[in-house]
Amino acid sequence: MARIVGGVGTSHVPAVGAAIDNGRQGEAYWAPYFAKTEPARAWMAETKPDVCLVVYNDHADAFSLEIIPTFALGVAPRFPPADEGYGPRRVPVAEGHPELAWHLAERLILDDEFDLTIVNDMPIDHGCTVPLSVTCGQPEAWPFRVIPLCVNVIQYPPPTGRRCLALGRAIRRAVESWPGDERVVVFGTGGMSHQLQGERAGLVNLPFDTAFMDALVADPDAQAQVPHATYLREAGSEGIELVMWLIMRGALGDAVTERYRLNHVPTSNTSNGLIILESGPPADR
Ligand code: DHB
Ligand code: FE
Repeated sequence: MARIVGGVGTSHVPAVGAAIDNGRQGEAYWAPYFAKTEPARAWMAETKPDVCLVVYNDHADAFSLEIIPTFALGVAPRFPPADEGYGPRRVPVAEGHPELAWHLAERLILDDEFDLTIVNDMPIDHGCTVPLSVTCGQPEAWPFRVIPLCVNVIQYPPPTGRRCLALGRAIRRAVESWPGDERVVVFGTGGMSHQLQGERAGLVNLPFDTAFMDALVADPDAQAQVPHATYLREAGSEGIELVMWLIMRGALGDAVTERYRLNHVPTSNTSNGLIILESGPPADR
């Protein structure tokens, strides 16, 4: 049986990807953030997952705004980095895991009745590639296979927190019903508080972000009840990306152990947060 061994919640700020691609990690603005994320790279190098399921939102790069699937699962053999206007990032093409991805599609659609969109061909934008860079640095090839899962948080109405948590729990069952022995890490990306446009552009709400992480760990069912309007009011218009962290949390099972967390401001416009969780209480692992 395949197993979900850990989860990473992290912001996916494109400027972080640009800083890495352009070798600016040592500059005064960036050095503190890259120092704080070093333990995440150490954890990933030690955990050595076979597969990462990356939950993120496409920012109108793969799908434009003509088609907006609520949940879209990538079943392709490989996923190239998207051209977001400055050419594709110079990062490896992500190797997919079509067999496991199709198994997830079958189990999620047939057993749990999540009406996923199946995507055979898709470039991955900063929502997916920046979390990979933050946790792996700049390898020649990503050290695991990648299954991307896109969630609509771009156009109203996004899925509820409850739906996201339930999808995560269904993903756990689906992974555990796969006969392979893959060790899987699930990413929930986006957030934390940020607003990119309008009068409140630049909004940061660290107390909200901390309370979100606390509830994510200790009481995800309570966090899943929080309505979209609360995210918009407290965490800004793009703070709604945080509902994707609930998919990651659901996939870890009831008990989790928190390994690491950080918050860092400033990185571009976003309150940049990262949390690492492992499945089960300490005694179980
Ligand atoms: C920023 C953050 C995002 O999540 C995003 O998708 C684009 C930009 C930012 O902080 O600049
Ligand atoms: Fe984003």
